[in-house]
Amino acid sequence: MNAVVEFVNVLASKPDAVSGYKSFTLGSFTFCRDEYFAHVSWTTRSGKPMSHTLDAGNFLRALMRDVAWGFFYGWVNFDAVIGTVNRYESVDLYAGSYNGTMKEAEIDLLENFPTAQIRATFEQMLDDWTNEGFDPFAAPQETGSAHGRKRGNNTAKVTRARELAKRCVGLKGDLAMRSDTSGAPINRAFADVPQEAPELHPEPGFENDVHAFNLFAFLSRSQVTWNPSFTSVVKYSFMCPTTEEHILPIIHGNDRVEWFFQMCDEIHWDCGDKNTGKPLARVIMKAGDMAAMPAYCRHQGFSPKRSMLLVWENGSPTLAYEIQNGKSPEIPVQF
Ligand code: PHB
Ligand code: FE
Repeated sequence: MNAVVEFVNVLASKPDAVSGYKSFTLGSFTFCRDEYFAHVSWTTRSGKPMSHTLDAGNFLRALMRDVAWGFFYGWVNFDAVIGTVNRYESVDLYAGSYNGTMKEAEIDLLENFPTAQIRATFEQMLDDWTNEGFDPFAAPQETGSAHGRKRGNNTAKVTRARELAKRCVGLKGDLAMRSDTSGAPINRAFADVPQEAPELHPEPGFENDVHAFNLFAFLSRSQVTWNPSFTSVVKYSFMCPTTEEHILPIIHGNDRVEWFFQMCDEIHWDCGDKNTGKPLARVIMKAGDMAAMPAYCRHQGFSPKRSMLLVWENGSPTLAYEIQNGKSPEIPVQF
């Protein structure tokens, strides 16, 4: 790991004399930022110089998720051009490779990196490019601007660690329930969410084994958006509730089927072909709706008001390969 970090340091340039930001190199890709934008450049398969520009705030919101989720399941498209594919021991970084038009024009590039190398580079870029007062995990109305010349940093907010429980949250010896009085404040959008804890009547002798908490109270106090938490893990069945506001900062391309349960308010989803980005469907999910995203799609959600979404993931480490070789279906149900 030390060797990887040193390698990244060598590739990070001195800060730009005007903007104050460092540039970073990963294989044939260069990343630099100015006051408004992140610029990615590469040499195409046919040897031509190419570049792509993203809004700095959007870029950092996507980079934050890619880093925090360990490159997630399958594809993390930052936009229609650049992104990563998790190969689980290594990561592909691409520009245009999953954009039908760019791929056809042969102006795309995909390179594979050991996970530790791309993670270290992305972590340093995220820290260097995030100014004080900008939190890439917060809803746009709840944070400052990403723009401008380099001003300080926000290391605490870009290195949040997951709180890990060993047993049910709230049970003796484990994490305290966050809706207690020492917990985070209730979000402005969830002022009407009841905060009562469930009644518990364990049989004598089982007081330390039986527990329950109010999931809605827990979610009403979430400080972050578009960040599923693993609230229950039963074998490979992961229940990952999350609070959503504004736009999912990545376009997720599945390598497995994934389920959504809209627990309140609504989210509008744009779904497209995973490989080309060609639009496939609009899914308007209202409170109580469930949907499954097939393994061949990419999707991005738009949440007009802060809402609660339950993401149900199959975390089996062999599933993506079973789908690739036809042993598991790409769709949840055959009608
Ligand atoms: C998804 O890509 O399916 C996803 C990611 C983050 C969320 C919700 C859904 O918060
Ligand atoms: Fe997804």
